[in-house]
Amino acid sequence: MISIKKPEEIELMAEAGRIVGGCFTEIRKILKPGIKTRDLDKLVEEYIRENGGIPAFKGYNGYPANICVSIDEQVVHGIPGEREIGESELVSVDIGVLKNGYYGDAARTFLTPPDMVEKKKLADITEQALNRGIGAARAGNRLTDISFAIQDFAESYGYSVVRDLVGHGVGKKLHEEPQVPNYGKPGNGPLLAVGMTLAIEPMINIGTWRVETLDDKWTVVTKDRKPSAHFENTIVITEGEPRILTMDN
Ligand code: MF3
Ligand code: CO
Repeated sequence: MISIKKPEEIELMAEAGRIVGGCFTEIRKILKPGIKTRDLDKLVEEYIRENGGIPAFKGYNGYPANICVSIDEQVVHGIPGEREIGESELVSVDIGVLKNGYYGDAARTFLTPPDMVEKKKLADITEQALNRGIGAARAGNRLTDISFAIQDFAESYGYSVVRDLVGHGVGKKLHEEPQVPNYGKPGNGPLLAVGMTLAIEPMINIGTWRVETLDDKWTVVTKDRKPSAHFENTIVITEGEPRILTMDN
């Protein structure tokens, strides 16, 4: 069953979401070649706790860090550590916050300078693919209208959509029903209704959509080791435009 949130619950989710959004604003201030992925983890943990939240990923299925940092061919679930971020790297940062019993979940992919056209375009199109998916998250549509909007847009640029990982409902739990695939035919799955809260998160690759998991049991990489990008927002379906709860601020 897909849970419908009451307006009071939406406002609590918006509080968690504001903290997530604030993390990305903090990250933009310090992200540059030479910093360690662990520095991002520390910055985010401090920011979340200062704002009365709890990092949601630490300990989730045994995940060992506060955030995920996935570079270039790493798709998602990269574990922060001593690695120094280099020039022209695609750095995907995924953050979850629990506050007052509700979760917010979002990801951004940054490109460190100097700009590299191919990677920049991948990140831009992935962000736009997320926005296409969000645009389809309207009451009266069906779940896979979101999926189709993402896939159709990404593939029109010759990119591929990761199949093995999906978006999800979010709220009192980090992962709730339904699963939200980033590919598929439109018009299938449950009807979308006002008050449903979804984390929509396309992972888009330059090469093959196939992925594998490294020996650390977490880091997902592209099979061909070509770059991948990831954007995610937590949204709520309303009477009109979907509302994004994890906006940068
Ligand atoms: N945004 C990802 C998700 O919702 C992050 C989960 S990472 C984990 O699936 F470490 F918490 F597993
Ligand atoms: Co998520």
